[in-house]
Amino acid sequence: MILGLETSCDETAAALVTQDGDVRANVVASQAELHARYGGVVPEVASRRHLELAAPVLRETLAQGGATLDDVDAVAVTHGPGLIGALLVGLSAAKALAWSRRLPLHPVDHLHGHVASLYLQPEPLEPPFLCLLASGGHTLLLDVRTHAGYDVVGTTLDDAAGEAFDKGARLLGLGYPGGAALDRAAADGDPAAYDFPVARVPGFDFSFSGLKTALLYAVRDLSADELERRRSDLAASYQRAIVRALVERTTAAAGELGATRIAVVGGVAANSELRGALADAALAPPALCTDNAAMIASAARFTQAIPFPEYLALDAYASAA
Ligand code: KG4
Ligand code: ZN
Repeated sequence: MILGLETSCDETAAALVTQDGDVRANVVASQAELHARYGGVVPEVASRRHLELAAPVLRETLAQGGATLDDVDAVAVTHGPGLIGALLVGLSAAKALAWSRRLPLHPVDHLHGHVASLYLQPEPLEPPFLCLLASGGHTLLLDVRTHAGYDVVGTTLDDAAGEAFDKGARLLGLGYPGGAALDRAAADGDPAAYDFPVARVPGFDFSFSGLKTALLYAVRDLSADELERRRSDLAASYQRAIVRALVERTTAAAGELGATRIAVVGGVAANSELRGALADAALAPPALCTDNAAMIASAARFTQAIPFPEYLALDAYASAA
């Protein structure tokens, strides 16, 4: 059994996954409420909260899986990219756990983790496929040829898709994190009410900053009453533009690269309109779209472990470059 830990942003998460990809326990403690009053994640606040939540989340995970630390054969942990202080809490906890039991440790790339959410039971996906990874921190097109990794073929030139959702939600007074709230508000709106732009950038890249500005201009001249009345139309039109940008670029890339299968992962993969628009794609299960540790343990099944005690020197990294 692999014990996975994930603390790269504002979710403190642990999971137990078997070598076959069976999820025995999956616990996610979201800190969203704690950061909501600041309108975004405050890194230092997140680190401190991870410190408080790590032990209870771990205990809950073992209880859920009906397991003890004796049942754990390896520890897996996200070591980047993410908030450096937050990552260090998870990495330190993972090192301590692995070291105390003389277990091997798998350092996992967070993005590989998102892709590996597709490799879990009951319907594990087999490479090759073209993967759209859309989250709060990234919007990437990945050429996935093996379980062990991926090649980046496209990225965002500015904001990530999830960031566009969150900033849009904020402009519409829908709180933080706003992706899911905007998704719900859009359900009652007319997606053709506003004509928001879909950025045209060369190659397989994305751009969302112009769209965000267009929403800002649409919103800033509205009175509070008008905003209230137009909120769902604005949400629906804005969401339509983000989803169109993602779908058009992804299907075009699949065509050009000759990919026969498209997959979608990351927090934005939970979006109902995106799921509807790419209904033929392999979609990560909604519960595994946003950050979790089951995907981290899943990725570890396909990566090399560092033997005891060599991993004590391992460091975290904030960004991939
Ligand atoms: O993958 P994730 O949990 O964290 C990162 O690795 O960044 O993604 C979080 C992002 C947030 O921006 C959130 O607003 C967005 O995913 N999100 C959604 C939905 N649920 C979460 N965006 C659109 N529609 C949703 N239903
Ligand atoms: Zn993530």
